[in-house]
Amino acid sequence: MEKFTIKTFKIPELSGISAKNIEEHLKLYAGYVKNINLIFDKLSELISDPEKNAYVVGELHRRIGFEFNGMRNHEYYFSSFEGGPRTLPENSQFKKAIEKQAPSLEAAITGFKTLAMTRGIGWAVLGYDKQTEQLVSVWIDEQHLGQLNGLQWVLGIDMWEHAYVYDYPTSEKKKYVEAFFANLNWEVIEENFKKAF
Ligand SMILES: [Fe+2]
Repeated sequence: MEKFTIKTFKIPELSGISAKNIEEHLKLYAGYVKNINLIFDKLSELISDPEKNAYVVGELHRRIGFEFNGMRNHEYYFSSFEGGPRTLPENSQFKKAIEKQAPSLEAAITGFKTLAMTRGIGWAVLGYDKQTEQLVSVWIDEQHLGQLNGLQWVLGIDMWEHAYVYDYPTSEKKKYVEAFFANLNWEVIEENFKKAF
């Protein structure tokens, strides 16, 4: 099986999210890549004696979703800061799609911020369901619990405390949510949206 590789991201200086927090967060991302590779390596060894290793093999299989999505979620997250804050392009397809479902882009963002304030550790995600041609927002516990099959990720905010622990106390996580949106490159979000087609 081909190895997953640790990606690099050109993240500029952000406002409200420190370079220290990003640096530490990137180390956690690297851990997910390391561990998804480790799972598949271990499985290829242990599967040679599935009866003896049944319990371990079962538990390794169970953790694939956590490590794989931990890797992929963070790749969407970090890439959304690349290039610095930019607005949606003229004639944005994403904007058109969201305005079919919400009174305005601003109203949709406000709703998404509420989703991000869900109690617990996980992700607030906006994705596109090609089958029903609509945007769907969803809360994902941890990295994987609640991921929706086939949904193209458009926008995802990491709401684990490690995403803002160097910058804000937990009682002020709303400031982190605001900082995330202040630094967001909406051109990247537009590109993510186009991948659904
Ligand atoms: Fe994270």
